[in-house]
Amino acid sequence: MTAEPFRIKMVERVKKTTKAERQQWLKEAGYNAFKIKAENVYIDCLTDSGTSAMSSEQWSALMLGDESYAGSKSFFKLEKSVQDVFGMPYLQPTHQGRAADYIMAKLYAEEGKYAIGNMHFDTFRGNAEILGALAVDYVVDAGKDTASPAQPFKGNIDLGKMQQLIDENGAEQISVVIITITCNNNGGQPVSMQNIREVSELAKQYDIPVVIDAARLAENAYFIKTREEGYQDKSIKEITREMFSYCETATMSSKKDGMVNIGGLFVTRNKDILEKAQQLAIVHEGFITYGGLAGRDLEALAVGLQEGCDEQYLEYRIKQAEYLGDRLLEKGVPIIEPTGGHGVYVDGRRFFPHIPQCEFPSQRLVVALYEEAGVRAVEIGACAFGSKDPETGEDIFPDIETMRIAISRRVYTNSHMDVIANALGEIYKNREQYKGMKLVYEGSVTSLRHFTAGFELL
Ligand code: F0G
Repeated sequence: MTAEPFRIKMVERVKKTTKAERQQWLKEAGYNAFKIKAENVYIDCLTDSGTSAMSSEQWSALMLGDESYAGSKSFFKLEKSVQDVFGMPYLQPTHQGRAADYIMAKLYAEEGKYAIGNMHFDTFRGNAEILGALAVDYVVDAGKDTASPAQPFKGNIDLGKMQQLIDENGAEQISVVIITITCNNNGGQPVSMQNIREVSELAKQYDIPVVIDAARLAENAYFIKTREEGYQDKSIKEITREMFSYCETATMSSKKDGMVNIGGLFVTRNKDILEKAQQLAIVHEGFITYGGLAGRDLEALAVGLQEGCDEQYLEYRIKQAEYLGDRLLEKGVPIIEPTGGHGVYVDGRRFFPHIPQCEFPSQRLVVALYEEAGVRAVEIGACAFGSKDPETGEDIFPDIETMRIAISRRVYTNSHMDVIANALGEIYKNREQYKGMKLVYEGSVTSLRHFTAGFELL
């Protein structure tokens, strides 16, 4: 049994609403969870990004923010904290993760060349595709199959596929390998140290740089500590430093394991790359010692990174996701197993086997969950990752078809998890009564339709 390694000093009221109200709001939102007003959500599991509760230490650090334009004291505190966690010397703060992704894509993605990933997060993929790069996902097969039996490291890169791409195209056609830890798109599944090491060794043979997308670095490190042989006695920071010893550069959305509400990082060991990143940052973000953030934000992140790596916190954090997963499994609800770091992913295909992917089963589940219990989750499936054949315009549906229940850090209790599990259990019992959905609006960019789409119930 583990309970929260903190006590609650300040609370934020959340509103309980009626089913009739929620049905009306869903209709007004075109059955798109992004368009529901947050004040009308009881438990918000849309994302774990930027939604953490800060600690009293972080709130007091805010008051120390040095708002100098250049050479802010807060920057140097952040630098120290980042060097401690990453074991890398240079950093450029950014306003959030996607800004670091943009800089990274500009420096590492090349037109007509491949960028290999386990599963690229959307913001790098978008940036890479604008530059004409070919972003390919080479996660191991078990990581693509939402019904595959539990395995400890479903975020690993398939080395065979990576080797094959090199053999068939020549290493000069691959500009970068990006390892996302944990792998967000398939369940918050971790990448093993062995895989990070082997990917790095293979890349090194061919002079291909390795980058780590480190939004959830501490959660990945905790999984290595608890699931991979040889790491049980290492500290979280020893593990994070070893992970980053295998890459040249890391990007981070600080809004996850940085335990802050806004911010990003570009971290590197390569001085030339740093200088180029700084130039891009000056144009797009702000001066190099603040990168689009206030001094106080840098202070909160310097503290938050340390708290995110605290082992007692991580144990509570990972066990909370596991707790929700276990409650769901008890009720027969199909999820990606094992549960990952930052949430639970319900398998839309197995939940609603009678709803075809073209009728958005996971989106239907998002709508049902909000309708039943005021709980907001997000679809990661046919709507978010669907695409169109550039020649025929025909829909292409993704391997992954899930509803992600993302758990904010230090925000909800296990009683909230029970509410979610009970609501989903009820929906599951009555699953045959649900029909699919029809997409009636998607906007001009298919890969962004997730945020703007409008649906009708069938
Ligand atoms: N990389 C990963 C792995 C992410 O999960 C995200 C954001 C980003 C980069 C971009 O960072 O939002 O700070 O600009 N993920 C959020 C989510 C939005 O809901 O999973 P950002």
